[in-house]
Amino acid sequence: MSDIKVIVLVGSLRAASINRQIAELAVEAAPQGVTLELFDRLGELPFYNEDIDNDDVVEPVVALRGAAAEADAALVVTPEYNGSIPGVLKNAIDWLSRPFGDSALKGKPLAVVGAALGQYGGVWAHDETRKSFGIAGPRVVEDLKLSIPAKSLDGRHPRENAEVAASLRDIVGKLVAEVG
Ligand SMILES: Cc1cc2nc3c(=O)[nH]c(=O)nc-3n(C[C@H](O)[C@H](O)[C@H](O)COP(=O)(O)O)c2cc1C
Repeated sequence: MSDIKVIVLVGSLRAASINRQIAELAVEAAPQGVTLELFDRLGELPFYNEDIDNDDVVEPVVALRGAAAEADAALVVTPEYNGSIPGVLKNAIDWLSRPFGDSALKGKPLAVVGAALGQYGGVWAHDETRKSFGIAGPRVVEDLKLSIPAKSLDGRHPRENAEVAASLRDIVGKLVAEVG
């Protein structure tokens, strides 16, 4: 049987992003028979515009939808910006929500995790990301939650935090178990 594929989307474009590091840790912690692939091109997507969402849609959108179509599940790793979803991630959700009713992630299990500086670790953004993806097409697995206050990482890579690494491994395992 071929590997289960999980597309990983990160809601921060920053080179030193903590959320990117969490995504890297998830990729490293993939169970046997599972491949997690970071789709690293959200910054190349134009702002969603129905006028350009046609048969000639630009290549980064084709690549995003293609990677989503090949995936069996999705893991979203995001910070919180101003109490909500970073624009770069919301834009990707909008692209992935079309064609209407036929998203490349339609019906596929999706989990949302991440870290933010605030004491609640970005829980507002994580809740809103679940809400938005829940409308866009995937099947959001609501009880897979991990909102990490960045201070708890003490400035180190999340892979050096045994609790975070274990929680992430658990979430990836449970997400993959949702693949039908
Ligand atoms: C524009 C902007 C808005 C932010 N708003 C919030 C916020 O509402 N809540 C929060 O906990 N942190 C907020 N932060 C701080 C981020 O949580 C912090 O910069 C985090 O490290 C970003 O994630 P990254 O390391 O993956 O880039 C904000 C940061 C930026 C740049």
